[in-house]
Amino acid sequence: LRRVLLTAMALLGTANVLLAESTSIFDTASYNSEKISEIFLLVLAITGLIFVLVFSAIAVFVVRFRARRSETEDEPEPPQIYGSWPIEIAWTIAPLLIIFVLFLVVVRSVNEQRPTQAPGDAVQVRVIGNQWWWSFEYPELGFITANELHVPLDDTEDPSSVFMQLESADVAHSFWVPRLAGKTDLIPNRINTMWFTPNETGVYYGQCAEYCGTQHSKMLLRVIVETPSEFAAWVENEKKPAVNDPAVADGRALFLEHSCASCHTIRGTNARGTFGPDLTHLMSRQTIGAGAAENNHDNLITWITNPHVFKTGCYMPEMKLTAENVKTVVSYLETLR
Ligand code: CUA
Repeated sequence: LRRVLLTAMALLGTANVLLAESTSIFDTASYNSEKISEIFLLVLAITGLIFVLVFSAIAVFVVRFRARRSETEDEPEPPQIYGSWPIEIAWTIAPLLIIFVLFLVVVRSVNEQRPTQAPGDAVQVRVIGNQWWWSFEYPELGFITANELHVPLDDTEDPSSVFMQLESADVAHSFWVPRLAGKTDLIPNRINTMWFTPNETGVYYGQCAEYCGTQHSKMLLRVIVETPSEFAAWVENEKKPAVNDPAVADGRALFLEHSCASCHTIRGTNARGTFGPDLTHLMSRQTIGAGAAENNHDNLITWITNPHVFKTGCYMPEMKLTAENVKTVVSYLETLR
């Protein structure tokens, strides 16, 4: 049965890949999502079996005991049975046992997946949910990035590669990257924890899974799983303060003097705002607006001119700059690699 289910899921998974980037929980790419999909299949197998038994019985009874024309109306009423202790006990105990087994399996998995302490050598990440973007802080490495989480591949036997502490700056959000881990809520005034160990490199798509306001649907995120050496190179670059290219000094000055700097941080400058994403290495990211648009020249121009084109109701204001000034600011931003 398990093999049949897995084959069906694999076919669905393949269809899913053909349609779009996979976000199927059966297309597992981490130790944790494997565990979750195993439990899902176990529950599906048990409940599926019960479904088949109950509906087969119904089908048999419907046919076997249907009213027949040949039966005359003056036939005596069959014996009436009221209650049966053995049956009552059986159908109380059997579901209780099934639920108890599932309960134990789930509790064991939840305990494993939600430790409060970081395992020794895990990469630490502090995730802060904001309306409608993600802040990823690497406290031990000393930098903050946004919306795209880079983590190293870990195919060792001892799974412990990414430990996250999840918080919220405003309302409840939920971190969910289906191929890597289960959902974890980000609750104001509370710290939740989770970990995951990716076992395949690649880009994994996720999104906020708790309704958090108008742009909940565009609170997207990506997890980029890299080989340890690629990850180390990324970390080296992120640690550096922003480049200060004299060729774009005008754009830099505009950014700092205009209100950009009151919401965004660019390390190495006076821009220390925290209301919006850290832009120190903006160009190392694939998207802008938490996955709302691809990160390229034209989209940056549109985003600064009128972010509501991509993300209606987001808190990034229209910057009220002339078209020329927008270009100047973008030319600066494009040096932030
Ligand atoms: Cu954040 Cu939905």
